[in-house]
Amino acid sequence: MKRFLTGVKPTGFAHLGNYFGAIKPAIELSKQKDSECLYFIADYHALTTVESGAEMEEYFYNIACTWLACGLDPEKVIFYRQSDIKEDFELNWILCNVTPKGLMNRAHAYKAMVEKNSENGVEKDDGVNMGLYNYPILMTADIVLFDTDFVPVGFDQKQHVEIARDIVHNFNLKYGKTLKEPNEYIDKNCATLVGLDGRKMSKSYNNTIRLFGTSGELKKSIMRIVTDSRLPGEPKDKECTVNKLFKLFASAEEAEKFENDLLAGLGWGEAKNRLFEVADRYISPMREKYNHYMAHKDEVDKILADGAVKARSIASKVLSRVRKAIGVK
Ligand code: ADP
Ligand code: TRP
Repeated sequence: MKRFLTGVKPTGFAHLGNYFGAIKPAIELSKQKDSECLYFIADYHALTTVESGAEMEEYFYNIACTWLACGLDPEKVIFYRQSDIKEDFELNWILCNVTPKGLMNRAHAYKAMVEKNSENGVEKDDGVNMGLYNYPILMTADIVLFDTDFVPVGFDQKQHVEIARDIVHNFNLKYGKTLKEPNEYIDKNCATLVGLDGRKMSKSYNNTIRLFGTSGELKKSIMRIVTDSRLPGEPKDKECTVNKLFKLFASAEEAEKFENDLLAGLGWGEAKNRLFEVADRYISPMREKYNHYMAHKDEVDKILADGAVKARSIASKVLSRVRKAIGVK
């Protein structure tokens, strides 16, 4: 049995890139035999970007309800909220003491801020708070608190898992083998989804299609997909965004027909209408569940509270082991 653990930050509304790149594969993984999965909402990591309490609450429920609506089964997955796991923050402090400051200086998010500041001619640590700086240490605690084997993440998070291994290595060197070294689990088949403008779909580029907007909002977003100026009757490029997105929602036969129609000169307006139809057909049943959970947040709270109990029963054992190793009873 291998243990998989991953966290999702509630920093915006879930979009199609998050769904196909992270949520769907993680849910499929949880259905495999021989895997035990812990998935959590990293609300305390989101503090580095979220602007207010109201925003945190809004994004938090968006993410929690999204995962449940997409098919996360709380009987199979331990699903919880990071801030409910008090052990995490104790371990975070302990790990601070085996983390060289230089290791944090090299972390991508911090380095990017420093580079941006030097380009702008301001003090190098301008706008950097300790939450951002120590982010990788809390992430290490999240992971190693559960003796995690694998961490399913996108490529951008690989460095964080490497840092976690470094910190574990330092701890074990000082106190004897106590913590398990985690490995990243990167699904190479998982393509990067393109957004409305053809770049990677990302909230930082403001080019996303929201997963659970209304049907009308979905249609509006699809109509905004940037296309070239080829007229109806002219063959279209099969690498276009509309075709790439169509494939994700359609059966193999439908996708083949659509591509042939594009090559035969299907107009962009009609192509987008057809994309909307398959996308809405795919998303509708999940949207209904999403709306149900959004209207019954007490059910969501209960699921997460149950998840926290299960998670803490694992976490408290690992933390006891750590406390024993460092000589704190
Ligand atoms: P964003 O880029 O919108 O800020 P996040 O960084 O919050 O998204 O990503 C959350 C998860 O969704 C990560 O696991 C990430 O790899 C995945 N993800 C985000 N955008 C895409 C995309 N365009 N294609 C595939 N996966 C994506
Ligand atoms: N840093 C991750 C991200 O930005 C979120 C995260 C927090 C996480 N703690 C984690 C991911 C632990 C995996 C394991 O997407």
